Amino acid sequence: MVNQKRRSFIASGFFSGIAGWVQASGGTAEMQETPGEIEGPFYPITPQKDKDFDLTRIAGQDGAARGTVIWITGEVFDSMGDPIEGASVEIWQANAEGRYHHPHDPNPAPLDQYFQGWAIVPSGSKGAFRFRTVMPGSYPAGPGWERPPHIHFKVMKRGFVELVTQMYFPGQSLNETDRLLQRKEPAEQKLMIAEVLRDKHDSFHYRIVIERA
Ligand SMILES: [Fe+2]
Repeated sequence: MVNQKRRSFIASGFFSGIAGWVQASGGTAEMQETPGEIEGPFYPITPQKDKDFDLTRIAGQDGAARGTVIWITGEVFDSMGDPIEGASVEIWQANAEGRYHHPHDPNPAPLDQYFQGWAIVPSGSKGAFRFRTVMPGSYPAGPGWERPPHIHFKVMKRGFVELVTQMYFPGQSLNETDRLLQRKEPAEQKLMIAEVLRDKHDSFHYRIVIERA
């Protein structure tokens, strides 16, 4: 049954590769869990009403966030490849200039009053979620260290281990020198870097696999 499921995923052509699947010794296909990463110092602490899927606009305001608008779509699975509906999928990120809406961010880059910066959505049927946001800017994280564009994720559901991680973008040269990403094994890095979806430069796909508690 699991193998059938795997074949149907591949046949759908939705995923560009089969990275993330491993063949267990018993012959069953399993999905590798998404590697965790530190939460970092900029988890949102300022209350905000609007945490919907569209980070490019804040409810009640006329303006739109500066930067390149992108879509992040994905799904949440368990390690047997079963989609997880009703998981809380939370993201937070720097704005297009590399600045977090957080009182402790020392980056002098400008804030963007129209950028929502933080969102929480439930995964829907087949585990799917989507966000509309802007490409986050890179930012200095210490001497000689510029963090590549990334989006922080927190994924929770009762009965599963909470996942805190960071999603990276393909083709970013700063990925090669990032002290966090480069600490990971190459196979783990692959699971943390989103795929470009259908050759569009503004659509990224991120598959998340969480562990049962
Ligand atoms: Fe960050």
